Formats: sequence, structure tokens, C-alpha cells
Amino acid sequence: MRVLLTGGYGFIGAWIVRNLLQQGHQVWILDLREDPRRLLQIMTADQVAQARFIPGDITDLAVLCQALESHGITHIIHLAGLQVPACRADPLTGARVNVLGTLAVFEAARRMLGQVQRIVYASSAAVYGPPDRYPAGPLPEDVPLAPSTHYGVFKACNEGNARVYFLEHGLVSIGLRPWTVYGVGRDLGLTSEPTKAIKAALLGRPWHISFGGWTDFQYVDDVAQTFILCLQRPFHGARCYNLRGTVTTLQEFHQTLCQVLPQAERLVTVGSTQIAIAYDLSDDALQRDLGPMPKTSLLQGIQQTVDLFRQLWQQGRLDTSDLQTTASLPQTVAPVEP
Ligand SMILES: NC(=O)c1ccc[n+]([C@@H]2O[C@H](COP(=O)([O-])OP(=O)(O)OC[C@H]3O[C@@H](n4cnc5c(N)ncnc54)[C@H](O)[C@@H]3O)[C@@H](O)[C@H]2O)c1
Repeated sequence: MRVLLTGGYGFIGAWIVRNLLQQGHQVWILDLREDPRRLLQIMTADQVAQARFIPGDITDLAVLCQALESHGITHIIHLAGLQVPACRADPLTGARVNVLGTLAVFEAARRMLGQVQRIVYASSAAVYGPPDRYPAGPLPEDVPLAPSTHYGVFKACNEGNARVYFLEHGLVSIGLRPWTVYGVGRDLGLTSEPTKAIKAALLGRPWHISFGGWTDFQYVDDVAQTFILCLQRPFHGARCYNLRGTVTTLQEFHQTLCQVLPQAERLVTVGSTQIAIAYDLSDDALQRDLGPMPKTSLLQGIQQTVDLFRQLWQQGRLDTSDLQTTASLPQTVAPVEP
């Protein structure tokens, strides 16, 4: 495949790049600026150099059309976008990037229909309303959407536009709805705090996860592989699918973290506020239509994350700027055992 990956320098993007390259596919990353920081946490510099970079903003239709045409792109994974806090702080910019930018990606693909065979794009579990709006789960995709953030509304809008692009033009697409994705490279967004807690505990620093209740923990490598399988497996139409990893409480996450890093017992604390998004979502439809999809247990996912963070730390390459609310530049810490 010749894959255009929007937002490929972000967290999930980095893991998708790694998997695509391992499988021998060609990758073009379209992102605002060249920032291979997250890729270099999980790949060698030689591997990172195999992914080519196209500077561009997804709201720029001409850049997208040029990228698809000049590189003979056959498949698109669309991840670029702003997360919940950014959309809350500036809904107009949020809509410009998340809604108009996504429309531009679909419009560019429509103009290259035939060459471009499919788009797999990141929607979000944030299209659902609060858990108490729904009957007991696991919930299928066809319950009413009731997003309670601008971000969730924008994602729901994208799902509708994707459906219309299929109805009117036959453009095949799959939208995936991740929940709390965790792993090395997760440093932005509302649900980045469990990953930050893992990093802080490893370093012997205290960390408070500001939310609590239930969520669905999805290991990033599983999510990355799922996006790629959705590009490859037979499919026709335009559909959105829930993902499902480990549905559990933040307390259970904390206890599992303590099994891997016992010092987390005293260092990590958990809040009590439930995020207002239904958390018990069924992935039966995804497994039936495109599965089986990989599922790493929470214990294994935390263990793998700790192992990778520890390696980076020992090499003096662990970026800790996400643990400091005021920091803006990447910072690394010396590899000293706590
Ligand atoms: N991480 C999660 O837990 C999670 C959960 C649900 C949905 N999602 C969705 O998955 C996608 C990827 O998430 P992530 O955690 O990797 O995000 P991220 O914030 O780490 O990465 C987003 C990337 O998009 C790029 N980008 C932003 N605006 C752009 C623009 N106008 N043009 C081009 N590139 C632009 C950024 O530079 C960045 O590299 C997003 O659409 C997000 O909404 C993520």
C-alpha cells in the first residue's frame, strides 16, 4: 500500500508508522511540521527516515490533492485533529481543523477515486453521551449519539459526512472510535493522564489522575494495528465502529500499575469524576466485519509501556515535559534509579 497518514507525528500516528513500515508499506506523513519526536521513541532513526514527510495543513485542499496525486497514494489513514481541551478552548478553530479539515481529506480522496481505495479515520468514543443516558452495555453502534463536548459533536459530524461521501460518490471509509488509548508517546489530551501516571511512577514522582470512575483502556499498538487491518480487510460501504480494550475502573488501573511498579501505591492517586462518555461499548460489529483484532491485556500493556519508558530513561532520552504543566520544551532526565 502507498499510505498517506495525516497527523502521523502524533501519538497513535507514530505507532501506525512503525507497523506500516514493519509490514513493508510506503508511508507519507502529512502534518503541520516535521516533529519525529514520538517516532524516535519507538523506532530507530533509520526506520524513521523511511517515512516521508509532507508539510501541510489538512484544511488546505490543494496540498492534499497534490499529495495524493504526486505520490500515487492508494490508501489514507486520517488522524490529524485537535483534542478535547483544544476544541473546548477554541471551538471555531476546533471546527475548522476537525470538521473542515476532515471534509477536505474526503474531498481530496473523492477527486482521486479509483486510485484512492479507502479512508480509515479516527472518530472517537466521545460521540456518545454520558453513561447514564444509555441502558447497561456493552452498547452497539446504533444507539443515539449525544456528545457532550464540541470535540464529540465534530467527530459525529465527520461520521455523517463520511457516510454522505459513500452515498453520493461511493467513497469507502471506516471510522474508528477509540476511548482511552495509552502507551509511549501519549502526552496530550484529556485521557493522557494514565500514561503520565505510568511515567511519573517509574521516575518516582507523584501523579494525580484527575478523573475517575470507568473507562476503556486501549493499548496503542492494538489500536495502530486495528487501523491498518481496517485498510486491508475486505469491506464495502461507510461505517463507524467502536473499539474495545479493557473496560474497567481507574482504581483497577492503579492496582494493575502497582503490580508492575509497586511504588505506584504511594505515588499515584486517582480522582472520582466520571468522564461523561459511555464506556461500555461493544466491538462485536468490528470483530465480525473486519476482525479478529489484537487485544493486549491491561497488565501486558502497562508492562510494555513501563519497559519502553525504562529503556528511554536508561538512554537519557525520556521526555518528561508532559509531566510539568508549565513546560513547553522537551526535557529529559538522567537515568538514575529511584
Ligand atoms: N489518543 C486517544 O486516546 C484518542 C481517543 C479517541 C480519539 N482519538 C483521535 O485519534 C486521532 C489521533 O489521536 P492522537 O492521540 O494521536 O493525537 P495527537 O494530538 O497526538 O496527534 C495529532 C496530530 O495531528 C497533527 N495536526 C493537528 N492539526 C493539524 C492540521 N491542521 N493539519 C495537519 N496535521 C495536524 C498534530 O501536529 C499531531 O501530530 C485524533 O483524531 C484523535 O481525536 C484519540
